Amino acid sequence: MEMLGLYPTWLEPMVGSGWVVAIISTIHVLASHTSVGAAMVFAYLAVVAYRQDKPELLDYIKKYGMFLLVFSYVIGSITGPGIWFSTTVASPRGISALIHSFVWKWATEWVFFVIEVVGVYLVVYLVGKVDQKTHMRIAVIFGLASYTTMLIIIGILSFMMWPGKEVWFTEGGYLNGFYGANTFAQLAMRTAFMFTMTAVVGGIVASGIKELAFKKAMLRRLAVLGIVSTLAGSLLFQWYLHTLPEQAHIVLENRLPDYFQPALMMVLSGILAYFLFTLVMPRLIVPAIAGVMTVAILVFGLWPEEVARESIRKPFVAGQYVYSNQVIARDVPGLGIKSEIPLLEEKGFLQSHVFLPENLRTVTPDNARAVGHALAMTACSNCHSLTDTGIRPLAKYFGGNTDVGDIKDYLLGALATGNTLYMPKIPLTDSEAEALAVYIGALKDDTVAENYAATRKPLAQAGEK
Ligand code: HEC
Repeated sequence: MEMLGLYPTWLEPMVGSGWVVAIISTIHVLASHTSVGAAMVFAYLAVVAYRQDKPELLDYIKKYGMFLLVFSYVIGSITGPGIWFSTTVASPRGISALIHSFVWKWATEWVFFVIEVVGVYLVVYLVGKVDQKTHMRIAVIFGLASYTTMLIIIGILSFMMWPGKEVWFTEGGYLNGFYGANTFAQLAMRTAFMFTMTAVVGGIVASGIKELAFKKAMLRRLAVLGIVSTLAGSLLFQWYLHTLPEQAHIVLENRLPDYFQPALMMVLSGILAYFLFTLVMPRLIVPAIAGVMTVAILVFGLWPEEVARESIRKPFVAGQYVYSNQVIARDVPGLGIKSEIPLLEEKGFLQSHVFLPENLRTVTPDNARAVGHALAMTACSNCHSLTDTGIRPLAKYFGGNTDVGDIKDYLLGALATGNTLYMPKIPLTDSEAEALAVYIGALKDDTVAENYAATRKPLAQAGEK
């Protein structure tokens, strides 16, 4: 029998697997963007220190570098593999899609990452131990290597949203997938905001400098960097929005709450206000304030940004052909990949999912709820949590309706036909839709499943399917 290579589902009961990935990624973005930005700033400062003979700048590089070693490199190196682990179990086929297209890109990125890590140690520990010109060169290499890691990752991130060119689907070729309308806009925008983060985190170190004149000068430099990069980032964000495909705009308009745009403006204004304050009153900034600001950026800036980016590629998780629930939804001749939708339409999940317990392959009045649970895990849990908490709790999406017939109608009418804006097409056979409806009804009201079993049993005995 032809089966689908679906993996077991990782169900995280409290918040849903998607949020676990999002939490880890958001922290990672803060750490990685800060360190890439800082590497570029170090290169610049080292050049200025050398050309204008300002050795105190090297002192700042050393302090910020030490701080980064703990902050960015430790946190970054924990969350980096964390992203791999969590996405591999949350979305095995999404990751597989990326690896099949970009394994050598990642290998290349890793090479630059090694240069970056060695570089940061050299930059920190060789201050005053080698001549300034050599130190400057090391700092520049460190800065360029860091930025290269970002350059490579952006191509992969853009592909996740939307493969570069349409011919990629038919002909493959990783450059076709790598460079899209989105790649450069995203790179430019992230580069700008990366300096914003570098300026905020750099403030934690600069505000702790003992010597007042130097503290002020350093904080002012960072404030100028922060103001310019935040303004540039806001403009580049508009460019980025223009490069998004139509489907993404539909999702943006319909999915993101109304307060999203104003909230975004508030966050950006808040950041600008902070930098202006730093510029005018650098003396008053203490590490705690800069620390709070860092956390604020993480929570109010990066978290919504990551969640929005995740949302606008719905219903796909990667490359516009792997659905979030792992089903492959379109032919990609370039990779020799075939859509799995036809097989699902013919046989349904119960007959084609490899990892399904045998006793759940046929629906009976008694196991309907358990089958429904298995289907919800397979087909919905990647985007809807199955409890009351976390991401889009499934129980809350049927408006309190617990009628098995109504829910089944919706499942067959909208989901199975692919007639929703942002959900995958989820083909379900008649009995699968019924089982899932029993499970969903019972999420709100336990008696739904009992009543169903009680009323269906006599019918089943009388020979009705
Ligand atoms: C690719 C992710 C994804 C998958 C998989 C998914 N959904 Fe959804 N679902 C969404 C999104 C996004 C919304 C819109 C939610 C919002 O506006 O907050 C939604 C909304 C809904 C709604 C509300 C009606 C509507 O059209 O807005 C229902 C009902 C629903 N989902 C049921 C399901 C069921 C049942 C499954 C599994 C068979 C499922 N979903 C699988 C993403 C998904």
